[in-house]
Amino acid sequence: VGAVEKVSRSGKPAVVAHRGASGDRPEHTLAAYELALAQGADGLECDVRLTADHELVCVHDRTVDRTSNGSGIVSEMTLDQLRELDFGSWHSAGDPASILTLRELLTLTLDWRRPVRLFIETKHPVRFGSLVEQKLLEILHEFGVATPPSADHSRAVVISFSSAGVWRIRRHAPMLPTILLGDTARVLGGSAATAVGATGIGPSVMTLRQYPDLVDRAAAAGRVTYCWTVDELVDVQLCADLGVRWLATNHPARVRDWLVTV
Ligand code: G3P
Ligand code: CA
Repeated sequence: VGAVEKVSRSGKPAVVAHRGASGDRPEHTLAAYELALAQGADGLECDVRLTADHELVCVHDRTVDRTSNGSGIVSEMTLDQLRELDFGSWHSAGDPASILTLRELLTLTLDWRRPVRLFIETKHPVRFGSLVEQKLLEILHEFGVATPPSADHSRAVVISFSSAGVWRIRRHAPMLPTILLGDTARVLGGSAATAVGATGIGPSVMTLRQYPDLVDRAAAAGRVTYCWTVDELVDVQLCADLGVRWLATNHPARVRDWLVTV
């Protein structure tokens, strides 16, 4: 486990690789995350789902159909069954790859030579009740990252569209930073983030274009803004101008270059 260092604030948004460098490699694979780290990403984003045997794996969709050579519902398959599938070859620039577990991705992140943050998105916590958060916190404790000295020093950030999910994390791990995701100004500009105690809000870039004042309103309430998914120069400029703290992109190398000039 790497040392916990403060990720310093430069004034420009920090770059989070969305599902890894998923513009160039198959999403959520080791190759996608290794490329993002090599390209200098400040953070990595992953989606996590529970398998039938209650392991957390990194996969976006409810099923494996789009991103593997198999078919079926992730939550109805065991980790061993998922390990038999190839999650890389569907992509034009992909080699055969096995599914990544959250533990494997945490190991990669924490062992990297720079302090990098892992933004872990819980998908559909409602289906399993609080089990997703329970398992997630178990793993974060196991890796020694569940109780950071402050949000600024945390190597893990839990992000979710589920306010109940964010609330459960805040309740059991109050020092862990959390982002309440949303794609409507109603959710993010209202009292939801306050009610669940999220340390930040996570609008989509479309929402941010429409409601740029969300960033200032969040800042006034002591919250940072994490914007997704920012792949265009004009939007990188918008995020920089507004003071967005983190931007998630499928193209970390390109966005890092743009950030030098904006
Ligand atoms: O980083 C947040 C973003 O990933 C939310 O949307 O569907 O890509 O998980 P989605
Ligand atoms: Ca996600």
